[in-house]
Amino acid sequence: MKIKSWLLAIGVVSLLSAIGCREQQPIVVEFEPNMVFAYQMSARLEQPMDQALDEANEALIELFGTPDEPKLPESILEEEPLASFLSMDHLVAASGPDTESGRGAYRKHCATCHGVTGNGRGTTAALLDPYPRDYRLGRFKFKSTPIGTKPLKEDIAKLIKVGLPGTAMKAIPELTEQDIDALTDYVIYLSWRGEVERSLLMEAEYLEFAEGDSLYDPSLKEKEPELFEEQNELIQDFALEVAESWLDAPDRVQEVPARDPTIVPDTMEEVVAAMQLEGNSPIKESVARGQELFVSEKTACAKCHGKEGHGDGQNNDYDEWTKDWTERFGLAPDDEYAQVPLIARGALPVRKVSPRNFQEGVYRGGVDPEDIYRRIALGIEGTPMPAAAVGAEEIWDLVNYVRSLYVPEPDELSDSPSAGPSAEQVTLGN
Ligand code: HEC
Ligand code: HEC
Repeated sequence: MKIKSWLLAIGVVSLLSAIGCREQQPIVVEFEPNMVFAYQMSARLEQPMDQALDEANEALIELFGTPDEPKLPESILEEEPLASFLSMDHLVAASGPDTESGRGAYRKHCATCHGVTGNGRGTTAALLDPYPRDYRLGRFKFKSTPIGTKPLKEDIAKLIKVGLPGTAMKAIPELTEQDIDALTDYVIYLSWRGEVERSLLMEAEYLEFAEGDSLYDPSLKEKEPELFEEQNELIQDFALEVAESWLDAPDRVQEVPARDPTIVPDTMEEVVAAMQLEGNSPIKESVARGQELFVSEKTACAKCHGKEGHGDGQNNDYDEWTKDWTERFGLAPDDEYAQVPLIARGALPVRKVSPRNFQEGVYRGGVDPEDIYRRIALGIEGTPMPAAAVGAEEIWDLVNYVRSLYVPEPDELSDSPSAGPSAEQVTLGN
């Protein structure tokens, strides 16, 4: 109990200071360094990270510029198709203050949740469940590519356009197609920058700052040009490596095979309606096969989602954004005391990740059968949800089965079991 109120106090103070800061100095907006990662690295390496943080910051400005003046790393500007992967016009339009005409869409529409840096820690973030995405890990959930690969630009653009149902991220009607394209590039830019920052901070492992080593020191340009050239090459290589992983995504797309709409209909409602009809039908047969697979050991769906898909199976796991600063550094996610210094540096209090309750019929990554197919076939990166090791026909049966569980919202008075508080309200309350 004591610790909980501690955490809350720190949360409120950092929230207030974040708000205060914005009001007092709206002119200089800076990218916030990854203090949580640096803190964990300093504990692991048993050396202070102050110099690494300062020099990483300098290197990042050289590579990516600032929130008002974005730039792209030299190394990628030298060769196609990397050079034109992100459009500089898009970055300029999405970045900057929203008081400047034609600019500022990210700060206006996204930063309150995702933070100026894309660290998932905007001023409202701590109140949301799930938390907004921290782009800096370079991991994304809802995409047409497998776990461990980047999403397509189209995947990100679609989520910005339609929002993520069941989360705080809603569609923003005033965004034009150009805004969405610009924001997509800007999300990739922030994610790329964040991943390079992590590589730079990890480099501290090979440096002895106390012995005079440095990570990136432009004052060496004159004194020791060769050493500086080496440092510059390293930071450019880090940038190149992440850029290539994005460029690789289109080759990694997993196509969704065509479905027969008489067996796998377009909407969830059609599946629910078909289940209520007398007698047998191809849809009912598919749902029955899907149910059998769902509870089978082969798929293990029921292990997490519960035998009836109510989201009440294994509920005690965490997502990778949490594990990144806890388990990865040997800290148990439920050790609240050990989290205090990290929360003071910007980590958000840990929350468990819940498997979906299919009665709600809410699909964050989209409700089209093709969307649900991708989630099952590819898994959901950053969460415990694995890719299913079954064939295409079986995945379509699973798509039908989970959709058949949908219990439409009761209109007013109803004794339906789903009339209680929504899962979101329940989790927010504790
Ligand atoms: C009200 C808060 C809020 C706002 C505003 C918001 N988002 Fe989000 N966003 C979220 C949340 C919450 C998630 C995480 C959903 C999850 O983990 O399932 C998210 C996730 C994302 C993701 C990751 C999707 C994935 O596949 O992992 C992207 C990209 C994204 N948002 C971009 C944006 C952009 C661009 C804007 C501005 C146009 C924006 N968001 C505005 C709350 C917000
Ligand atoms: C190890 C646990 C685990 C297993 C096994 C598992 N899931 Fe999940 N599943 C989850 C979690 C956790 C989520 C929520 C992910 C998130 O944060 O968006 C989820 C989400 C989903 C979603 C929602 C996608 C969306 O767009 O909102 C579907 C559909 C789904 N699972 C189907 C299945 C099916 C079908 C199987 C079996 C083939 C399965 N899951 C196996 C844990 C699991």
